[in-house]
Amino acid sequence: MAKNKTLVLHSRPEGMLREENFQVVEREVPAVKQGQFLVRVHFASLDPGIRNLLAESSGYWVPTSLGEPLNTNMVGEVVESQHTDYRPGDLVAGTGALQEYTVFTPGPMTWKIDSGSRLPLSNHLSILGATGLTAYFGLLDVGKPVAGETVLVSAAAGAVGSAVGQIAKIRGCRVVGIAGGEEKCRRVIEEFGFDAAIDYRNKDMAQLMTAIGEHCPNGVDIYFENVGGIQLDAALGHMNSGGRVPCCGMISQYNGEGGAAMHNLFNIVAKTLRVEGFLCHTYSEQFPEALRDLEQWVAAGQLNHREHIEEGITAAPGVFVKLFTGENQGKTLVKVLSD
Ligand SMILES: NC(=O)c1ccc[n+]([C@@H]2O[C@H](COP(=O)([O-])OP(=O)(O)OC[C@H]3O[C@@H](n4cnc5c(N)ncnc54)[C@H](OP(=O)(O)O)[C@@H]3O)[C@@H](O)[C@H]2O)c1
Repeated sequence: MAKNKTLVLHSRPEGMLREENFQVVEREVPAVKQGQFLVRVHFASLDPGIRNLLAESSGYWVPTSLGEPLNTNMVGEVVESQHTDYRPGDLVAGTGALQEYTVFTPGPMTWKIDSGSRLPLSNHLSILGATGLTAYFGLLDVGKPVAGETVLVSAAAGAVGSAVGQIAKIRGCRVVGIAGGEEKCRRVIEEFGFDAAIDYRNKDMAQLMTAIGEHCPNGVDIYFENVGGIQLDAALGHMNSGGRVPCCGMISQYNGEGGAAMHNLFNIVAKTLRVEGFLCHTYSEQFPEALRDLEQWVAAGQLNHREHIEEGITAAPGVFVKLFTGENQGKTLVKVLSD
């Protein structure tokens, strides 16, 4: 166990993230302290939000130092433990340094995975992990959908967005997605059951406003925000009075671009909107109940999802970049040491 492939930050990205910003190095397997346990990592998640931790200051969580590993959510098997609740052989989800053998210090995103779960382990990082939980709480707790309302979702073909749309359908809403390109728009309707999809690529603000108006003739009651920039601005222009805007992420701005001038902000006042940011981990006490619902919906065929999995930590830099070019085709994971 001496060699332990680890993904570290090699240089701070300026503008668009590049593969060269990362390096895969070999580190010692970390020592396990009291209250921690060592995990053989099977799958690691690459989340767009990690991009915000690569700057010198993030306004978010603690930024990653140069030469230090990226922190992310992972699933794997406990191989050594100094924690009374976790035993070798347990399957776990948690957060730690992205390496083959990593230490988890239990926190809000750490839990044991039922070894009887019939779903693949990778699902506990995607639809039954932070992705599904983010969609669940962002839509149901922040958005508070009511049957018959219109829900507009950005990055709708992506991991969180596709789940948001399907949960909104389960709640009886009319759902419209915004996604990049014809293929993803087709997927949003045919695979994820949205009522309509808008291809935002090659559309300016005026064209996006027109497209949303055409597809949401009764206005928008909930705009689930994953992207920011002109998509947020155009959506605000179509909100109904008393509308809600759960702010999940703003991926168009993570690479320092997309800070469009906003034209429709006054609608927040005029339409008495509630625009509210949220972070998934703050709901950790309610995770068990949410995971039960999500698992039931998956089993009933009401909640489809895709995983984009590439092999090995060495693939991680390239896969991470794909999140920002739209080349990822579902929840973006690397398979680390699973058999
Ligand atoms: N608040 C929380 O607790 C929380 C937790 C998890 C994730 N999030 C946020 O949720 C959002 C979605 O994350 P995810 O993991 O589900 O990723 P994802 O949607 O599976 O992948 C990201 C997608 O974003 C779109 N995109 C990338 N750059 C863009 C740009 N410049 N303009 C417009 N669209 C762009 C691309 O889709 P197209 O090909 O359609 O453009 C890409 O496929 C992100 O904003 C993320 O930060 C928040």
